[in-house]
Amino acid sequence: MIKKAVIPAAGFGTRFLPAAKSQPKEMLPIVDTPVIQFVVEEAVASGITDILMVIGKGKRAIEEHFDRNFELENELEEKNKVEELNLMRRISNLAEVHFVWQKELKGLGDAIYCARHHVGDEPFAVLLGDTIIESENPVTLQLMKAFERYRECMVALEEVDRAKVERYGVISGREIEPSVFLIDDFVEKPSPKDAPSNLAIAGRYILTPDIFDTISKTDYGKNNEIQLTDAMRKLVAERAMYGLKFKGRRHDIGNKLDFIRTNIWYALKRDDMKDEIKEFMARILSGDDSPF
Ligand code: UTP
Repeated sequence: MIKKAVIPAAGFGTRFLPAAKSQPKEMLPIVDTPVIQFVVEEAVASGITDILMVIGKGKRAIEEHFDRNFELENELEEKNKVEELNLMRRISNLAEVHFVWQKELKGLGDAIYCARHHVGDEPFAVLLGDTIIESENPVTLQLMKAFERYRECMVALEEVDRAKVERYGVISGREIEPSVFLIDDFVEKPSPKDAPSNLAIAGRYILTPDIFDTISKTDYGKNNEIQLTDAMRKLVAERAMYGLKFKGRRHDIGNKLDFIRTNIWYALKRDDMKDEIKEFMARILSGDDSPF
């Protein structure tokens, strides 16, 4: 049973400047909850008890978010804000959270490599810290269940619009049972006409520990970074690797448009604000230039 998860959250977030200059993009809120808290909640709901976050310069707010804040708790207690107090305590008790520093930001592959001592010799989950996947059944758990059957690396796959495949890493492979693919290669950002499929790698993985050795032998690739996809490409040449077309909806918070869309989407699910948001949007769409 997989108990450990790695959450890479050290990246610069250049697509989200200037907001990401001095604060982690992973701490940007969806309504009132930081993106990375959704990610941790998914891991915990999947049965993960040990989480390693890979962080770097300017990312201390992530540590503080998952630590206890006794001053704040005392303040909430004194003011009898019980609901908020319970929420604060729940966040710091979600899981055993550890941190490791990626000293030089050399890419996602390198970020995963920083987890090698903590993970040891067992399969583990990876959840990108800037990607929320909304689903009834947590996607990491969907991957873990599939992993139990195949015992090889399992990558979450999302069907994307063929015209947009050049934004993603996609797989080539064949479906061996409904929603499970035996992967034979990965292609980074192909043009729609050359793409072997429209199945994109979606920010959740179960990896076997031999990935560490493979990453150590992977050269710098695109953007002069050590790419996880390049390491997986090497590994898939040596052993079987699978992809699971998950049930759920992915939100990549690392780009501004998806961030805004996701905020609206989640705000519309909230009983305390959905009616007012709908009214506000209706006023904007009807051309009202003072909808506030
Ligand atoms: P991205 O591909 O979004 O890269 O990383 P980035 O550098 O954070 O953002 P852009 O592209 O410059 O806007 C996906 C996840 O991997 C982490 C990021 O923090 C993010 O959660 N990551 C990326 C690392 O931990 N280390 C790295 O060197 C690169």
